[in-house]
Amino acid sequence: MSKKRVFSGIQPTGNTHLGNYLGAIRNWAARQAEKENYFCIVDLHSLTVPQNPDELRYETRSMAAMLLACGLDPNQSTIFVQSHVQAHAEGCWLLNCITPLGWLQRMTQYKDKSAKQESVLTGLLDYPVLMAGDILFYDAHEVPVGEDQKQHVELARDIAQRFNALYETEFFVIPQPIIPAVGARVMGLDDATAKMSKSQADKRGHAIRILDDPKEIMHSFKRAVTDSGNEIAFSSDPEKAGVNNLLGIYKAVTGKDETAVLADFADARGYGDLKKRVAEVTIEMLTPIRERHDYLMQDPAELDRLMAVGAQHARSVSQPKVDDMKRIMGLVVP
Ligand code: TYM
Repeated sequence: MSKKRVFSGIQPTGNTHLGNYLGAIRNWAARQAEKENYFCIVDLHSLTVPQNPDELRYETRSMAAMLLACGLDPNQSTIFVQSHVQAHAEGCWLLNCITPLGWLQRMTQYKDKSAKQESVLTGLLDYPVLMAGDILFYDAHEVPVGEDQKQHVELARDIAQRFNALYETEFFVIPQPIIPAVGARVMGLDDATAKMSKSQADKRGHAIRILDDPKEIMHSFKRAVTDSGNEIAFSSDPEKAGVNNLLGIYKAVTGKDETAVLADFADARGYGDLKKRVAEVTIEMLTPIRERHDYLMQDPAELDRLMAVGAQHARSVSQPKVDDMKRIMGLVVP
């Protein structure tokens, strides 16, 4: 039986954090051997909000090093940079021409992000169509993402179904979002009612960044907002969201079930102990990743070479798909 195709992506905008790792990257690495994998550094998506060109260039290489440091293996997975494969931008235009505007205006992430900006770029509205193309041009069956990307994957399904219906074909595979049972929504340490996010990660105490040094990680956990009580328990009470988030992180990092997690804290003396132990297991998990990232960054030419190999393979899959799509839509393909 042929392996299921997996596609997922991550923006190279720096500040890669614990949520990205637990909600996405770790799960990509864990199932590589069972699947045919495409993992994309989505630099075109990053351009949907203003970027500093030098920083974006640096962060794109840094993300390549990060994915390798997190265990993605170029022998098992195609790892590449989105803008290196022209099919993504080209095919996005074709999908734009069958996607109703209202579908994009309804996207939660668009509404949230655009509300925070004075001038909204067209690319921000179009972002989910570019993402749909990423997935659809590889005939991906599965899209492993954190909870916040579920709506975008559902839109990719809708776009695929609309294309198939319009042209009476089964051309596009209908992809499934794969959301992990734990770690799908890591919340901010400074406010556990909002997800941990890259755009907030420069704010002290909000996020645990994968490249933070151990002292900084310990410090951020120690500052984590909790409540005035002292009960260490999983809870859906919004008052207890801080403690619930810390326990959720501990659960995701250690892979233990809730009973085993609570047993580990049976002797804890208050929230101070809780924060310290969550910090310790997180530091133990992230330290080798940071060290490997820093090691790989010493050889940017090798990172570029690996990305070029990935792009070449990605092109060989996605360009014929986009060419076929053009034919179906009535374009003359030379
Ligand atoms: P991005 O770069 O914002 O995030 C990368 C992955 O990390 C997950 N994630 C989280 N998981 C748990 N808790 C959090 N606090 C948290 N924050 C982020 C995200 O869900 C994501 O899986 N649009 C996408 C990138 C993309 C893509 C694609 C994904 C472009 N094309 C095609 C899948 C398929 C994004 O901006 O992810």
